[in-house]
Parts: sequence; C-alpha cells; structure tokens
Amino acid sequence: MGDAVRVQGLTKSYGELNAVGGIDFSVPPGRVFAFLGPNGAGKTTTVEILEGLRKRTKGEVEVLGLDPWTQGRALHHRIGVIPQEFRFFDKITPAESVQYYARLFEKPADVEALLARVELSDKANARFDTLSGGQKQKLGLALALVNDPEVCFLDEPTTGLDPHARRAIWEVIRMLKADHRTVFLTTHYLEEAQLLADQVAIIHQGRIIASGPPDAIIRQYGRRERLVVQGSSALAEKLRASLDLPVRAQDGRIEIAFREKADIFRVLDAIEKSGLPWSGFATQSDTLEDVFVSLVGKMDEGVLKPAGVA
Ligand SMILES: Nc1ncnc2c1ncn2[C@@H]1O[C@H](COP(=O)(O)OP(=O)(O)OP(=O)(O)O)[C@@H](O)[C@H]1O
Ligand SMILES: [Mg+2]
Repeated sequence: MGDAVRVQGLTKSYGELNAVGGIDFSVPPGRVFAFLGPNGAGKTTTVEILEGLRKRTKGEVEVLGLDPWTQGRALHHRIGVIPQEFRFFDKITPAESVQYYARLFEKPADVEALLARVELSDKANARFDTLSGGQKQKLGLALALVNDPEVCFLDEPTTGLDPHARRAIWEVIRMLKADHRTVFLTTHYLEEAQLLADQVAIIHQGRIIASGPPDAIIRQYGRRERLVVQGSSALAEKLRASLDLPVRAQDGRIEIAFREKADIFRVLDAIEKSGLPWSGFATQSDTLEDVFVSLVGKMDEGVLKPAGVA
C-alpha cells in the first residue's frame, strides 16, 4: 500500500509571505506523525491543505492517493479532522452533534460509546456554549471519529486540556494506531510527540529543519548523556581535576558529560574519593523538547540553515 500522506515541494504563499516554502515528507499508513514547530511556522496551513480546506500554491500533495483540493468530496468521507480551536453551534449538545455528523456521513454512530471514548459522557446533553474549553476539544475529537476515518488530522487536539484530559486523548490516539489508522498530529507539547509519534518533522518559517523518529532526532541533535549530582563547587573542582570529562556546575548541581558506561564508575569513584558530601546521583538525557528548543533557537539566530539539516 502507498503512503497515507505524501507531500512533495509543497509551497503556500499568502501574498508576499511564503508560509510554507517547499516541504517534502510522507507518512506511511498506520503511523502517528507529529508535525512540530513554533507559532506561525506553517503547521495549520499545511494541515488545512492536506484536508482540502486551503489551496496550495505549488507542489504535489496526496492523502490516501487523492488530491485533497480536486478530490475533496471523496477524501472527506475517509478522513477525520479537528481544526485548531474547534467551534460548533452554540445550542447543540454533544450527543446531538455526533448524531448530526453521523447523518452527514451516512454512518451509524454509537453516540454513547464515542462520547465515553473521549470522556465526555457526563456532558452528553449539555449545550455546546456551556462546555469548558477542554470539553469542546474532546467533542471535536469525538466528531473527528464519527466517520470511522482512515486518517485523522488533529491540529493541537490537547491545547488547553488538563493533564488528565490530555492523557485521555493520548489513549484515543493510541487506540487509533492500534486500529492501524494514520494520525497526523500537531502539538506544542513536545513530550506528547516524543511519547506518541513514530515520526516527527520540525518546521520553522515554512521549512522542515529536522525529521525522523523522535529517538533518532534526539541522538542526532541532542547533547551527550550526562551524570547529574548535587554537590558543592569544591566537589566540582575536584572532579574537574581528577576526570578527563567535561564538568559543569551551577546552583549546587554538577553535570558530567560521559562517553561510555564505564565512565559512570570512574565518576562515582572520584566523588567517593573526594570525601565531600553529595546526593541525588542520576543520569540525564536530552528530551525532544530540549532538542526542539535548541534547534529552533539556532535557526532564529541564523546559526543553522534549513539546507544544512536533514
Ligand atoms: N489566511 C491567511 N492569510 C495571510 N497569512 C496567513 C493566513 N493564514 C496563515 N497566515 C500566516 O502564515 C504563517 C503560518 O501560519 P500557520 O497558521 O500555518 O502557523 P502554525 O504553525 O499553525 O502556528 P500555530 O502554532 O500558532 O498554530 C503565519 O505567519 C501566519 O500569519
Ligand atoms: Mg496552527
């Protein structure tokens, strides 16, 4: 089977502004793809082009083998969409909205099961304008699932949700993946992308600056794994003198970048031999968020160019 989503040389200009400046990526079926980037990077523009809601300026785009702009009608029956900042008719309840969508798509819907899946059963009969921000987001997700979609486009589905509600949405995304559906996710919560995504792409000012599985991106752009120990600057000095490893110290926290596992024992030995007090020995690796902040920061400073990165 071909890719669920395929994008080649996609460009979108709004007048003078190149909001998307020639990007390429593909998403195989059944995968979770996280599209990450700072505000205004071009995520929603790209997502809405894939959904057939905006017309591209240039490039090739296919979703489930269809052109979203010219074959939107066929495509809309096979995809689910949560727009960024989902809104609906004020006086309609979640139960009615699900029924309405089900009729629209001519699909039978188990209203109760769908609302239970997004943890919204208790508000099944409350008017939309009385729902909290998070509850509205949950309804958006329920509606995106009504037509049993092969590909779900979720544009910031967890923004504004409380930590428990976010985890409920993560569970839905995991279920979609277990069902072999494709999920195209945008989010500003990097830990969410690291947890859920098989593949991520980081977009900055309309250009993709890094892409691949989260682990590979962290390995490629992250700093070396570190040992962290709480101790005085005197301890840091002793470690600097006795080890051939970089030692950084600030606010009673000492970081030692190590090369191989055996270094850990040498560090512990040096700490013990110093005779100075210490506590809280642990190892620490960069997260996707650390890498994202560093990459985007370097791009903003002009230290990195899009062409120089994968
Ligand atoms: N309809 C429009 N007309 C003109 N400019 C637009 C339009 N829509 C988006 N833009 C501009 O295109 C750029 C990309 O916007 P987009 O909404 O795709 O960003 P985003 O990555 O989704 O950001 P966010 O994380 O804030 O949602 C921004 O500079 C934005 O101001
Ligand atoms: Mg957006």
